[in-house]
Amino acid sequence: MPLKLIRGDITKLECDAIVNAANSTLLGGGGVDGAIHRAAGRGLLNECRKLGGCKTGEAKLTKGYRLPCRFVIHTVGPVWRGGDNGEEDLLRSCYRNSLSLAADNGCESVAFPLISSGVYGYPKDRALRVATDEIVRFLSGSEMLVYIVIFDKKSFDIGEKLFGDIEAFIDDSYASDAYSYTLERRRAPVMMDICLEEAAEEDEKIDRRNKKLYQAAAPSFAGASADKLSASVKKEKRAPKNTLEDELNNLDESFSEMLLRKIDEKGMTDVECYKRANVDRKLFSKIRSDRLYRPSKTTAIAFVIALELPLEEAKNMLMKAGYALSRSNKFDIIIEYFIVNANYDIFEINEALFKFDQNLLGV
Ligand code: APR
Repeated sequence: MPLKLIRGDITKLECDAIVNAANSTLLGGGGVDGAIHRAAGRGLLNECRKLGGCKTGEAKLTKGYRLPCRFVIHTVGPVWRGGDNGEEDLLRSCYRNSLSLAADNGCESVAFPLISSGVYGYPKDRALRVATDEIVRFLSGSEMLVYIVIFDKKSFDIGEKLFGDIEAFIDDSYASDAYSYTLERRRAPVMMDICLEEAAEEDEKIDRRNKKLYQAAAPSFAGASADKLSASVKKEKRAPKNTLEDELNNLDESFSEMLLRKIDEKGMTDVECYKRANVDRKLFSKIRSDRLYRPSKTTAIAFVIALELPLEEAKNMLMKAGYALSRSNKFDIIIEYFIVNANYDIFEINEALFKFDQNLLGV
């Protein structure tokens, strides 16, 4: 999963580089800047002193010192002044410059805080959208692993409207699930009676037909009574149509076969599909080369989303990997919400999953 949203303290992350939301002096401050300087120790400040500051939107690299990462990339985000003063462009260039600096220094993994979304006042959900956008764009041409580190839940806001819609959908699903469950239970005995009645009628019909058959062909069934005959025909009637051989010949296409077929049908390339699914190349080639490969549920769903499959096709594809979208767990209900609303933006889905404390898509 090339882009991961995680919750935690960026100073604890063991990756090649962490990004610091600094100020233009690069001499430390509060928030994540203060946390990074405290954890790195004086060596970081001494190196920063030699850098001569940093302009908003630009980025500079130092060593990591006592931090568990090799490098710290210091970037200065814009102060939010209402959104009409070029803040978004400046914030985008923070991510672009930090990512290219990481790549130029051979980093295979880099972690970002939500730049400017603290002291500098950039609205959280917009800050996250910019971060996700720029990182996904960069990842279309890179194999780097990128983390967005959310320090605390409240700094993670997917927008009240979307959050409210999903909550209502979850409640409805639980309710309808509970309703259908009680309905089934209430109807069960009745259904059972109906089933028994229908089965009895069915048997009556078979018996009547067999008796007629029997009378017409009586001489060749010497000794076989009508009852025995109808019993064997009944058994025959209910016997599975396919023999074992048929079953093996009709083996359904596998998950990976359906995935590759759908990629072709959609006119996508393999790369487009696994990038959109936020799945890394190695995992995709495993799925591609082994027709019976069984991906994890989140990976299977990530491909369903990348292919933008409607609900029924999505369920069919998941079934081929041995999964179903259950209506009794939040993760599945949130996925169903986005599919039903034809919203296949995997990062928006991950933001929602993150907000509801669920696993993220793609792994
Ligand atoms: N790990 C990860 N994220 C963190 C951590 C941490 N240890 N501490 C804070 N954050 C998050 C905040 O919750 C916020 O979402 O980092 C994001 C950025 O917030 P700030 O650190 O306030 O940075 P910013 O909004 O860019 O303001 C920069 O604040 O600290 C000063 O010197 C800094 O003047 C500069 C200004």
